[in-house]
Amino acid sequence: MIHTAVFVKSSPHWQQCPSSDLPEYAFIGRSNVGKSSLINMLTNHGNLAKISSKPGKTQLINHFLINNTWHLVDLPGYGYAKTPKKIREGFSDMISQYILHRTQLVCLFVLIDSRLTPQQIDLDFLYNLGENQIPFALVFTKADKQSPTRTKENVNNFLQTLSENWETLPPHFTASCITKEGKENIVQFIDASFYSLQMS
Ligand code: GTP
Ligand code: MG
Repeated sequence: MIHTAVFVKSSPHWQQCPSSDLPEYAFIGRSNVGKSSLINMLTNHGNLAKISSKPGKTQLINHFLINNTWHLVDLPGYGYAKTPKKIREGFSDMISQYILHRTQLVCLFVLIDSRLTPQQIDLDFLYNLGENQIPFALVFTKADKQSPTRTKENVNNFLQTLSENWETLPPHFTASCITKEGKENIVQFIDASFYSLQMS
């Protein structure tokens, strides 16, 4: 359960992120995929993370303190910078440094637009995560924009594409910030992994 959510800091670089070693859960995905909206849904907040219909709204690493015990992080989207080739070759600098160096990162939630066929930029991003052994889960967003059948088809199609290169599939969720679908499952997943951290 998320009881309290407080904005802590926006950082332009991973080295300026909060110095605490609280466990961290971060949200990333293509620009405009719905990261900030999902964070507001999970935290029951109308406007904790800034939302925009224009891509590229979130440009810094934003930390929020949850229940005084862990950090939730809103990251800038990938795929908006005007250097697509560079992005294809790896993460953009700010994001990659954060992902590779932030040792308290427990899980990176990668958001995928549930309306689309598998996008190369997302597949490449996930491939990079795999190469660097970064733990991640998938969230298929904006499920309210089409029929549940269509969403399921697209999700299965994406997972099928992943399974061509991956032996095990990552945990995955379907979500909508309009219907609140996915909220309980995602929060439960975080709670469970947080709990197992305390036990280990
Ligand atoms: P950047 O910070 O620019 O990378 O974008 P973001 O990924 O944080 O996306 P944001 O949450 O700002 O949402 C982008 C647009 O999609 C906004 O107009 C949202 O209202 C809309 N949106 C986000 N999630 C959903 C959803 O689940 N359903 C619907 N219908 N619209 C959504
Ligand atoms: Mg955002």
